[in-house]
Amino acid sequence: MDLKGYFKRIGFSGLYDKADLDTLRTIHKLHVMTIPFENLSLHSGGKNTMDLKVIYEKIVCEHRGGWCCENNLLFSWVLKEMGYTFTTLGGKVFSRVKNDYSTMDCHLINMVEIEGKSYITDVSFGTSSQIWWPLEIIADKDQPQPPGVFRLLNDGDRWMLEITGRKPLIQNEALANSRLAEKFGTHPMYSFSLTPRAVDHFLETSEYLQTSPESLFLLKSICSLQTPTGYRALIGWTYSEVTFNPEEDRDVYELRNIPDSEIEAILKDKFSVTLGKKVTAINKKDTAFGVLNLLV
Ligand SMILES: CC(C)(COP(=O)(O)OP(=O)(O)OC[C@H]1O[C@@H](n2cnc3c(N)ncnc32)[C@H](O)[C@@H]1OP(=O)(O)O)[C@@H](O)C(=O)NCCC(=O)NCCS
Repeated sequence: MDLKGYFKRIGFSGLYDKADLDTLRTIHKLHVMTIPFENLSLHSGGKNTMDLKVIYEKIVCEHRGGWCCENNLLFSWVLKEMGYTFTTLGGKVFSRVKNDYSTMDCHLINMVEIEGKSYITDVSFGTSSQIWWPLEIIADKDQPQPPGVFRLLNDGDRWMLEITGRKPLIQNEALANSRLAEKFGTHPMYSFSLTPRAVDHFLETSEYLQTSPESLFLLKSICSLQTPTGYRALIGWTYSEVTFNPEEDRDVYELRNIPDSEIEAILKDKFSVTLGKKVTAINKKDTAFGVLNLLV
């Protein structure tokens, strides 16, 4: 594994002799702009692993993306190689369907400490709630970024991350499902404690999320990537290009359904992802959100 290979993959050509906040902001943003949040291995006959070498090979060498346990685990290796002081944490994802957090830690994130301040780095939440830059761990402070206004709340040992997003202006109403149209305002994303977590903390969850029929990651094939003006996503057969529009407090969603025969080309042209295997697209409604029932 080679840090230069990672830098080339994300297009970083700056200096990295100092583990400072500016450099962290730069590589964080480059990561979310070049490496997709995607679960396509699960829909093309493969599996997701927590073996760092396999993840490096997949994301850096094969130009694929990954889900949080892949992207953020790779990012923890990057932080270590660059000399940052960091701790890996586990998060419980909030479901709008159930109006509650998952019971188990199903989201892997990293906390970085720089000059006496702590920050959350998370390069893999995906779609409309992806942070572009690290968030300072400080309670009740609005931290505006292009996708929306992020805010951390604190309740004793637990921290809660929420986003205030903008109303979607959906260009193709025929494709607008009600949950997408209703997705705006303030909603929780995930909660976490500052307890350090090792890779084995996530092994059982990772297995569950890719085998349980209830898992969101089996209900939907997902590929999303942030762009300088918003984000793009392929969820099942629906391809969307989203333009953030904070001036008018509306994000513009251009949606279209694509046939199976075009999926490979869309992945290549819009996400620079080539699988070499056929993806079976799927987009089932999330009614119970499997991660909530995780291993109870
Ligand atoms: C795939 C994803 C869109 C589904 O998220 P969700 O929390 O179930 O639902 P959302 O509130 O974001 O979206 C509501 C609906 O709009 C759809 N939607 C959201 N963004 C969309 C877009 N850009 N284009 C088309 N449809 C979209 C969703 O598929 C969902 O449809 P459904 O009602 O048929 O299930 C995405 O937000 C996601 O991947 N979330 C999980 C992130 C996560 O858990 N990360 C950590 C672990 S790796």
